[in-house]
Order: sequence, then C-alpha cells, then structure tokens
Amino acid sequence: MRDHFCGLIDETLIGQTVTLCGWADVARNMGGLVFIDLRDHEGIVQIVAEPSSVEGNAEVLAVAAQIGYEDALQVTGVVRKRESVNNKIRTGQIEVVATRIEVLNKAEPLPFHHHENPGEDIRLKYRYLDLRAPDMQRKMRTRTRLVANLRRYLDERGFQDIETPILTKATPEGARDFLVPARMHPGEFYALPQSPQLFKQILMMAGFDRYYQIARCFRDEALRADRQLEFTQLDMEFAWVDEKIVQDTVEDMIREVFRETIGVELASTFPRMTYAEAMRRYGSDKPDLRIALEFVDVAELVKGSEFKVFTDAANDADGRVVALRIPGGAALSRKQIDEYAAHAAKFGAKGLAYVKLDEAGAVNSPIAKFFADDAFKALLEAIGLKNGDIAFFGAGAYKTVSDFMGALRLKAGKDFDLVAAGWAPLWVTDFPMFEWDDEEQRYVALHHPFTAPAVDSIDDLRANAKTAVSRGYDMVLNGNEIGGGSIRIHSSKMQSAVFELLGIGAEEAEAKFGFLLDALKYGAPPHGGIAFGIDRIAALMAGSESIRDVIAFPKTTSAQCLMTGAPSEVPDKQLAEVHIQVREAKK
Ligand code: AMO
Ligand code: AMP
Repeated sequence: MRDHFCGLIDETLIGQTVTLCGWADVARNMGGLVFIDLRDHEGIVQIVAEPSSVEGNAEVLAVAAQIGYEDALQVTGVVRKRESVNNKIRTGQIEVVATRIEVLNKAEPLPFHHHENPGEDIRLKYRYLDLRAPDMQRKMRTRTRLVANLRRYLDERGFQDIETPILTKATPEGARDFLVPARMHPGEFYALPQSPQLFKQILMMAGFDRYYQIARCFRDEALRADRQLEFTQLDMEFAWVDEKIVQDTVEDMIREVFRETIGVELASTFPRMTYAEAMRRYGSDKPDLRIALEFVDVAELVKGSEFKVFTDAANDADGRVVALRIPGGAALSRKQIDEYAAHAAKFGAKGLAYVKLDEAGAVNSPIAKFFADDAFKALLEAIGLKNGDIAFFGAGAYKTVSDFMGALRLKAGKDFDLVAAGWAPLWVTDFPMFEWDDEEQRYVALHHPFTAPAVDSIDDLRANAKTAVSRGYDMVLNGNEIGGGSIRIHSSKMQSAVFELLGIGAEEAEAKFGFLLDALKYGAPPHGGIAFGIDRIAALMAGSESIRDVIAFPKTTSAQCLMTGAPSEVPDKQLAEVHIQVREAKK
C-alpha cells in the first residue's frame, strides 16, 4: 500500500513520486489549497493539494477538502522542496504534492485529539487513539529498545531465557495474590506469580547457572504512578556467586543499556549506601541523590527544651528528632507552610514545627518559646540555618519521622528547584532482615523470605533477629527503586529457621514451600540474583512521570481497564463451572 514512511521522507527524494499511508493529523483548507499533515509511526509529512502544479487535480482537491482529523489515507504525490521550512519536524525541508488521495477509512468525530492535552481517563478509554500520538509512540519505542538491548546484553553473556509458570502457587513478595479457580480441582486455586522468585532459585539448583526472563508479575496492591497490578520484570539469577558478581554484572548491564537506549552515560561506579545511612540522611530507602538537602539529627540539642514532643522523641531509643533546612525557604507563606504540614501528615506526621529566619535575621518559630536563648542559637547553628532559610522539624518514632521528613525533602526539592539535572544511581545495601509488624504481631521479611541473612549461624540469627541485616540490595535511580535482589538462603535448615522467625510454622512451611525445602537438600549451589522493574526504567528513560505511559494498556489507579471494562461480572454458568459462588452482594 505504500513505498515510503511519512516521517522519513527527505530531500534525497525530491522530484520522486511516493505513495504513503497514514492519518490526517491536521487538515487545513485554505480555499483552493489544502494542507494535510499526514502522520504514521515515523512522523509527519506535509501533503499539499493544489490546483496548479499537477494535472487532474480538481478531483484531488475535492477529496482533500473533505478530510477530517484521523481519517486513514493513502496518498500518492511528488516530493518537492518546501518554500517555508519547518524546523520543528524531521521532514520540514520538503512537502509532497498530491496527485491522488484515497480515503481508506473515514474517522467519525473524535472523542478527543492528542493536540488538546486530554485527561487521562478519556485517553485510557480510547487508548488506540492515545497511542497514535507521536509522544506515546516515542515512549513505547524507548521501551522496545530498552528490552531489546537488555536481551542482547544477556544473550551475549550466556544467560538462558527460561519461562516459568503463570498459573502457579503463591510466591510471597509482600502483596496480595491474584487467584485463579482450578476448574478440575473444586475449591482449589492457582495463584498468579508475584514474581518468578522460587522457580528461578530452583532453576539454579537444576543446573542452569545463569537465567533471565522478561517476566510478567502480578500483585494485588494499591496502585500508584510507579505501581501496576501487572508489571514486567527483568528477572535474573546466578549460581555460585556472591553479591559482588551480581552487582558488578548488572551495574555494567544498566550502564550499557542507558548508553545504547538513550545515549546517557551513568557513573562508572555506582555509590553504595547502607539502608541505615539512607534513612538517617534522607529518610528513604530509595533516596533521590539529585537533591542536595540532608537531614540533621538534633535529638541531643533539644533534650533540654520544654517541648514535650521533642524531649519524648529525643529520650526514646526508637525515637528521632530531625531538622531539614531549606535554603531560601523563609519565603514560604503561612499558607504554604500549612501545605507542607498537610503533606507531611499524609506520611504520618502529627505536626510540623519550623523555624524561619527572614532576610534580616529575625526568627519566626512556634517552638522558639520552648528553648533557652543560647540553646536555640546552638540548635540553629547545628542546622546551619542562614538568613532567608526555613528549617522543618520532625519528632516521633524513627520510621515515621524518617518517612514524613523524607517526603518533605522530595517536595521541597521540587518546589525550590533543587533537583539537579542528570542521573543519580546508587546501591542501597544492608537492609534489616526483618521488620516488626505491629498489626500482625510478628516479623515480616523486608525483602522476601528467601533472602540470606548476613550472619554466621542459625543461632546467631535467632539471637539477633531484631538487628540482623540481610544480604539484599536495591538499585535506586533518581529516587526510584528500579531493582531489588539478594543472595539467597541455600541451606534447607537456615530456610526453615527463617520461616520460623517469620511466624510460619513447620506445617505451614511444608504445605507452602515444601518443594523448596526439599530442593535445597540436594546440593543446592549458593546463588543470588535480582529483578529490575522494566516499566520503571522505561518510564525514566522516556521522561515519564508514570509507568502508565510506557505500558500499552495499563490499569487506572482504581484497578480498571477503561478500554475493555475489566474487571467485569461473569455469567453464573461460568462461575458454576469453576465452583465459585459470589459471597458479597454485588455493588
Ligand atoms: P521486588 O519485589 O523488589 O523483588 O521487585 C523487583 C522490582 O520490580 C519493580 N516492581 C514493580 N513495578 C511496577 N509495579 C509494581 N507493582 C512493582 N513491584 C515491583 C521494582 C522492583 O525494584 N523476586 C524479587 C527479586 C529478587 O529478589 O531477585 C522481587 O520481585 O522496580
Ligand atoms: P504546639 O505547641 O502543640 O502547637 O506545637 C508547636 C509546633 O510543633 C507546631 O508547629 C506543631 O505543628 C509542631 N509539632 C507538633 N508535633 C510535632 C511532631 N511530632 N514533629 C514535629 N513537629 C511537631
């Protein structure tokens, strides 16, 4: 139907006749002269229908005059140099003078046009129209190139691409499972994999040495800009390794795919930071190092004050009092400070104290009254507060304060334009092995239950469960967790001990993970690996705020596909076949 692509017509084709297919991006009828921006996946080229230049054009003009947005067209014409060059598009030097235009499929009036900056709901409902937009085409192509480059890198290095089941048994990664009723086994269910974790470990025990898979994962969890119910991992596992080999290999891979996919040169060595340091300095286990703001711990300096909120936290071993200085922040109005407090409250803050030093050095602070003059002066000095700055304070439980002050740091970084250009990758290591879950009154795994503890023995782990660190690691880029992995437990006894510490009794462990405990008994090699979030990396590469932009058919934050209408009810007959009776009254 075509011999060239619209977006690739250039000056070398001047004088030649070409046939193109595409959509009418815009048609401008100038009366006796019609310009059509014809668009395909490669870009846009200007088509001209004019009475004078080519014979027999009365008909072409008549057809051209009727063309509307997104009509599907086939156009034949002659390439010529353009009088008014358009440097904004690749084909801006030339245009195509139409000798024949055929409307292959007339488009009805559109629900929206991509020129209009439409809302996301309507874009998702008519996703096929949305995806036609050049910017979406560009983003999806970035993703395609990323995946191709990853595959090539791994194929060249002997990683074996192996598929693992989608209908399987639950693998816990901390989210809820999606269940699929088993028609042949009434009352029983498959779970969709939260990740291929257990299968990839077993592949190492099965002698495959190095594995990868571009794997779809399913997690029934709250959706956000960087989270979907189903998402794609580059999943990897290595046998006979320690963390250095895994980290060095994948760091090199990430550097290479950034170079090849978007021409970005990442640091030749990614910095490493322990979880404890990341929380202490930035209040996050995925710090955005492009933002220079850092916490100052001030517990010691507020102990002598009369502000109970501060002294309580300062005197509590699990408490923390933190200050965050924002240069130039004294310009914040009362209302803006309240907005910061409201933002912090979303992350658990009960209040947000502050000190403002105006340009003349006058103090404005609701907590100054609780301090002796010299103590307050010492506090401001420790924070490094200068005229024109503001400092926010967080006091309370260590984790809560870190969370809300960490969130403030990100907001302040954006609001005050303190996010440096460029790319800031790092490794975060030495995560706690366990986290205490108040609700469930038991330990939960910070990574997953198969992560090896950095201890010498089971006794050591049992004695120090609260403080034990794991051999897990995350790769962070510009404040996003793009990958996470670990060295795994390869001893059946250690695995059982970890299950026990997680409150998974022997019987439950046998029922859920008996196959793993067995497999570990027959000479399982030491092994480890990592999984990267492809959607997240693609979004970063494409400059998107949300991974929805690099997923062709994503779900909304309320877990729906607006195009197909999923999820949806199913007929009773179908439910009966899979032995399901719906419990709750339908909404
Ligand atoms: P983890 O749970 O950290 O590790 O996942 C690895 C990476 O996958 C991405 N990711 C997501 N992306 C989009 N939507 C989601 N809901 C989502 N959840 C996770 C993140 C994350 O870093 N089996 C282990 C890996 C291992 O130990 O080898 C795992 O799944 O970028
Ligand atoms: P109050 O005297 O209770 O009004 O508190 C004085 C200041 O401390 C106010 O600006 C509160 O927002 C702030 N504040 C209260 N609780 C906390 C907290 N846990 N962390 C930081 N600031 C707080």
